[in-house]
Amino acid sequence: MRRVDDVGDLLFKLNKIGIALSSERDLTALLELILRESRRFANAEGGSLYLREGDHLTFLLSQNDVLSQRHGKGNTAKYFHGSQIPIQKTSLAGYVAVTGESLNIDDVYAIPADREYRFNTDFDQKNQYRTRSMLLVPLKDPEGRTTGVLALINARDEQEQVTFFHPRFELLVTSLASQAAVAIRNAKLTQELKDAYLDTIFRLSVAAEYRDNDTATHLHRMSLYSAILAQGLGYDASTCEKLRYAAVMHDIGKIGVPDAILNKPGKLTVQEFDEIKKHTLIGAKILGNSQVEILRLSEVIALTHHEKYDGTGYPRGLAGEKIPEEGRIVAVADVFDALTSRRCYKPPFSSESAVQIICEGAGKHFDPRVVAAFLAALDDILKVKAQYPD
Ligand code: C2E
Ligand code: SIN
Ligand code: FE
Repeated sequence: MRRVDDVGDLLFKLNKIGIALSSERDLTALLELILRESRRFANAEGGSLYLREGDHLTFLLSQNDVLSQRHGKGNTAKYFHGSQIPIQKTSLAGYVAVTGESLNIDDVYAIPADREYRFNTDFDQKNQYRTRSMLLVPLKDPEGRTTGVLALINARDEQEQVTFFHPRFELLVTSLASQAAVAIRNAKLTQELKDAYLDTIFRLSVAAEYRDNDTATHLHRMSLYSAILAQGLGYDASTCEKLRYAAVMHDIGKIGVPDAILNKPGKLTVQEFDEIKKHTLIGAKILGNSQVEILRLSEVIALTHHEKYDGTGYPRGLAGEKIPEEGRIVAVADVFDALTSRRCYKPPFSSESAVQIICEGAGKHFDPRVVAAFLAALDDILKVKAQYPD
């Protein structure tokens, strides 16, 4: 890390950081970035970030070069993560949160006794560390509310010796912290929108199948089974998550199937089953042509989850790799759950019989690779089953 000395250079850096912040949507990654960049900016050995939650500050994150070198990566400040500080003037971070003013202290062990705040030495004692200089600035949103506190610890000079924070950093770090406040708010809004969206998907899918019993738990189970199978087949975490939510909508087309058929206690006639088969096409039509990635995935799944590996499925009689892999995955997840659940037309099978039926279907109904992934992950699948009973 090197000191930046000229104002133009500083502004350039600040602007670059601002752009990075505005493009980061994931809140955890964003917070790490904010702390890392502001430390680099002021050449600080360590730092912490607190966010306001109700009448507390929650300690979210800390970084420290000296401690991470001593303990190995990610090992610093374990004791404090998630701990809460009341928003009162008695602590340094609390003082900044209450007053909205920054604090720049040359030596936290030499704070004059007449100040309202004092330094809490627990961190230093537990980590055998010596905090000396600290710069604490508020995170202020555009309305001027303090939404958090950024604390930088132990400034270092060109010789990497601990020194005080030069006052010119106060304004710059404050400016960075305000950009951070906006970025955090945006990330939270994005997360809320995502949650609202996924919750809506789930509720609409339940509504579509409302006439079937226990649909909500069925959807939880089969979507989680799908994600487990995808993970076993080597999908990355984000794709597994997308598949999980897309799978929730696989039977949404049942909304277009008459009650009398769906809830018929006994065996279906050929004509009735032909009506049922349409739920794949109806679902694909409902979900079709979306700009949203998860919905496009769910369209594929709705359309293909009843295709069979040997080409005897519906609606198109696709075989083997012609069936999109997501459809092949959801087929196993859906049938395993249908088999082990009670339906208006059948009692539940035991897990053992259901596993046997899935195995017998390898290469006929199911993709053998997906069945292999199913067997390999059976423990996890049975855990989910136990977690969401009917
Ligand atoms: P579902 O009840 O969710 O079943 C999904 C799939 O699980 C079925 O797709 C089938 O592949 C498998 N499955 C379910 N029960 C059994 C079983 O006892 N043995 C075996 N080997 N596999 C089973 P499928 O057959 O295309 O059926 C699609 C949907 O049509 C079912 O969804 C259900 O809503 C309805 N359905 C199917 N058969 C009947 C029936 O005999 N009576 C009624 N009322 N509905 C039925
Ligand atoms: C949800 O948890 O609300 C989404 C569906 C699921 O994966 O169970
Ligand atoms: Fe279906």
